[in-house]
Amino acid sequence: MTVDIEAPRTPRRRAANRTNFEMYAWVFMRLSGLLLVVLVFTHLIVNAFIDGGVQRVSFAFVAGKYASPFWQVFDLALLWLAQLHGTNGLRVIINDYAERDSTRFWLKMLLFTASTLIIALGTLVIFTFDPTIS
Ligand code: HEM
Repeated sequence: MTVDIEAPRTPRRRAANRTNFEMYAWVFMRLSGLLLVVLVFTHLIVNAFIDGGVQRVSFAFVAGKYASPFWQVFDLALLWLAQLHGTNGLRVIINDYAERDSTRFWLKMLLFTASTLIIALGTLVIFTFDPTIS
């Protein structure tokens, strides 16, 4: 007796175009997740708990923090990592759940545009913050 075995599904992309992007993205989610635990909890403790807590957050408080290159770099790392981590997470969700090619394409265009704008605007604010404009 012979058994019919179905041919494997045709890959969407040609083998020559394949890269290790998804593997690097997987590793990035784990590493950025670890760093985010430290950054997010430090951010919460410093901004919302110690020294009078969230009540004392004001323009002057932000000005005080951004006078220090340490907090500029800290906030920059938090912004970039959270944004890239969240964007890549949503990219995977869109790939998993949006069935039509065009839906996937436009949702990802929207996601990447929003993400790029947020990263650019946030980075600009961190480095051009002017404590004298209040
Ligand atoms: C606080 C530390 C965080 C840790 C340890 C962490 C860890 C992770 C890990 C390991 C994944 C991959 C899950 C998988 O592949 O199945 C993931 C997915 C994801 N993360 Fe985070 N993450 C953190 C913070 C954040 C933040 C701040 C955001 C939003 C800006 C975020 C948004 C997402 C999204 C949207 C996904 C995709 C979820 C999914 O695939 O079902 N995460 N996270």
